[in-house]
Amino acid sequence: MSTCPRTGSFVVITFASLAIAVSLFLWTPFYSGLPPPAWTQTSTGDSAQIVKLAPSYAPRGWNFDPARDANNYSLNSAQCARAFPRLYHELERAVRQRHELALGNVTTEDVDVQWRDSGELVRVLLWEGQLRIVDTNWADHGWDIPRALAILHSIHRAVLSSRAERIPNIEFAVSVGDWPGDPIDEHPIWVLTRHRDQPNKWVMPDFGFWSWPIDFIGEYTQVRRDIEENEPAWDNKDTRLVWRGATKTNALREALVRVSKGKAWSDVQEIKWNDEELMKQTALSIPEHCNYRFVAHTEGHSYSGRGKYLLNCHSVSVVHEPEWIEPHTHLFIPSGPQQNVVAVRRDFKDLNKQMKSLMRQPERAQQIATNSVATFRDRYLTPAATACYWRDMFRAWASVSFEPQLFEIVEGERRERGVSFESWVTELEYPEEDADD
Ligand SMILES: *[C@@H]1O[C@H](CO)[C@@H](O)[C@H](O)[C@H]1NC(C)=O
Ligand SMILES: *[C@@H]1O[C@H](CO)[C@@H](O)[C@H](O)[C@H]1NC(C)=O
Repeated sequence: MSTCPRTGSFVVITFASLAIAVSLFLWTPFYSGLPPPAWTQTSTGDSAQIVKLAPSYAPRGWNFDPARDANNYSLNSAQCARAFPRLYHELERAVRQRHELALGNVTTEDVDVQWRDSGELVRVLLWEGQLRIVDTNWADHGWDIPRALAILHSIHRAVLSSRAERIPNIEFAVSVGDWPGDPIDEHPIWVLTRHRDQPNKWVMPDFGFWSWPIDFIGEYTQVRRDIEENEPAWDNKDTRLVWRGATKTNALREALVRVSKGKAWSDVQEIKWNDEELMKQTALSIPEHCNYRFVAHTEGHSYSGRGKYLLNCHSVSVVHEPEWIEPHTHLFIPSGPQQNVVAVRRDFKDLNKQMKSLMRQPERAQQIATNSVATFRDRYLTPAATACYWRDMFRAWASVSFEPQLFEIVEGERRERGVSFESWVTELEYPEEDADD
């Protein structure tokens, strides 16, 4: 988005809102059982027509190999289920809660996007494999558009890369804000994160899996390659805990800085965005975070946009109990032989004790980092997994949703609803207010 004249302020706003979070709400370790989600197996009634898939088989003896498959967007649903058996937790939860609360099917009113005063919403139709933009409700801050572009392209890629399998016809509303902006949890919209008390929300992959539209992060596979190119071996890493960020955002960040002050294990430093000199000295790129054995995650305004990048390091993620859920939150395992993160309290009061104990047991720390790589970098946070998640989200949504119409009758004339993504994206204009401030 370097053509966006507001890039400067955009960077600051976004980064300030960049929470390091990653939620580990449930601490539920492995959620067991491997059968593919129900909506991919059977279908009944009206949905049969929508959800029916071409028979899908994993090639005989096929197993996910990150070196070969990490960037393959085209795994079929059987391969997706085999490669990422625990990926669909949030989707299953969302479907289950509609059934349990007898909410009935999603309706056309549910996908309206005009209810929210503060914008950040797009209404989307997927029709016979074509993506169409039906309605938008933008904020005036300007950064919802680049995020929406990233999300829509990511959806588009997941549609195009589905080889033999049909994508169901669906209509849905996407929110690209840091939080859903729906305090009473009324609208079943697709969101980047949901508060753990907002069960009505459907959590989708973050826009950063396409590209975080700011200069110093960029496209996701590029970030992964940069990390791979620059990451020192475990033995050569800085043995401390690293964190950078603004503390004004919330109290837990202040607590982190406070309890880390003067500790031998700490390279935790506050960043002041308006102090350029200090910024130059203290700011770190994402790959530079991977130079450390320990990386701290903190929520910001909501979830942590940085969390998924940090989980690409061969390092130990130190995470506080989360309030904001992402698709991978349930994959955190805080204890046992499979442990892949270190969990601390939200007020960080136990951080000193935990860090001292980890410093005394470097082999244990290394094992946690190695488990993290196996779970996140080399499996659930691969581009392949993201494409699988999107396609499963389309099917899960279809299983509890109305069947959308392509045509509508307006003043006696039959016409197609929305604009094709291809046209919309080439004709997109930023709102007037953003052009010159
Ligand atoms: C809800 O939608 C599904 C899928 O389109 C359909 O099979 C089901 O009959 C619908 N249920 C109701 C109560 O309309
Ligand atoms: C992606 O995976 C599919 C299924 O295993 C395979 O047929 C295809 O060749 C792979 N594509 C690439 C570019 O590796």
